[in-house]
Amino acid sequence: MKKYYWLIALAVLILLVPASCYYDSEEALYPSLSSGCDTTAVTFSGKIAPMLANNCLSCHSNATAAGAGNGIRLEIYADVKNRASAVAGSIKHTGTYSPMPKNGGKLNTCLINQFDIWIRTGMPEN
Ligand code: HEC
Repeated sequence: MKKYYWLIALAVLILLVPASCYYDSEEALYPSLSSGCDTTAVTFSGKIAPMLANNCLSCHSNATAAGAGNGIRLEIYADVKNRASAVAGSIKHTGTYSPMPKNGGKLNTCLINQFDIWIRTGMPEN
């Protein structure tokens, strides 16, 4: 009889160990779900313009573009819309676009995803 206890204990161990080792957080699997990244209310004024102001306008504002940004202006909606695919390529560091922000670290995934969402939803001026 005693040896059955060992068998049961062993079976319990075998069942429990893999279950306890499985650890995938929802946030890690789906970064857009993590509390820090709002992927639902991606408006030009709320998300896109602030991202550009914080990371790009030092070189690409109407005032600075000629001297520091190769003449590329990203301050007003129409200019951003016209250059949207270049902006997307440059912040993702893909394609033949110059990686941006120039001489800075790559933007975080949340900001890059939000820019993509803004393009996919038709680049609204909101
Ligand atoms: C320190 C100045 C500086 C900052 C900050 C900067 N840029 Fe630029 N950007 C430049 C310069 C200079 C060029 C011209 C190409 C080059 O020198 O790489 C350029 C080029 C570009 C281009 C054209 C790329 C191409 O290959 O056609 C885009 C789009 C762009 N920047 C977007 C951005 C965005 C978006 C940000 C912010 C996330 C940003 N830049 C931040 C200086 C800057």
